[in-house]
Amino acid sequence: MVSSLKSALIVYHSSTGNTQKVAYAIKDGLEAGGLQVDLKKPQEAVEVDFYGYDLVCVGSPSIEWQPAKPMVDLLKAKLNLYRSQGKIKPCAPKLAGKNALVFCTYSGTHTGIDEATPAGKTMRQYFEHFGFNILGEWYVPSEFHGREDMSTQGRLGDIKGKPTADELGKIKKDAQQIAKSL
Ligand SMILES: Cc1cc2nc3c(=O)[nH]c(=O)nc-3n(C[C@H](O)[C@H](O)[C@H](O)COP(=O)(O)O)c2cc1C
Repeated sequence: MVSSLKSALIVYHSSTGNTQKVAYAIKDGLEAGGLQVDLKKPQEAVEVDFYGYDLVCVGSPSIEWQPAKPMVDLLKAKLNLYRSQGKIKPCAPKLAGKNALVFCTYSGTHTGIDEATPAGKTMRQYFEHFGFNILGEWYVPSEFHGREDMSTQGRLGDIKGKPTADELGKIKKDAQQIAKSL
């Protein structure tokens, strides 16, 4: 019998470890839900075809309310490639079986979630252009490493230690649900 195991790609950038923790929680959840998962940094995903997967999860910290540069560079390169292949179409029709999940870690010190949503929406826009169905846009409050005041004096209050093990457990469960829904 031919295996019909569905597959997922997780591409994430992380400088101080928060987004990496979320990426691994998502990986654990997707695998628990029966998916075969590849996990890559943006620099490792240059030759990877997003259309080769049932689900692509893309994650970045919010850096000056945008995705981190390695992620933007990757997504721009993919947009240019897919455009040259005629895959970017007017009205961005949705492709059956092509799904995306966006996740963004942020500290929200100055303006709360408002300084994270532009980063998430930017990543989402690429996948909408690619014709993927967006299954979620997850924003995860996370410690600002190396600056105590940025983790205690901001709009989100005391965010030291975030994301916590409990929060990562919830992310894992939610990812498992997504895997089962595919
Ligand atoms: C240079 C820099 C800029 C940042 N800009 C923002 C921002 O605009 N909005 C925000 O909520 N957090 C901002 N942060 C906090 C990070 O998004 C947050 O700590 C994130 O979880 C770090 O992810 P990482 O550990 O995966 O690198 C910034 C952090 C740095 C170092």
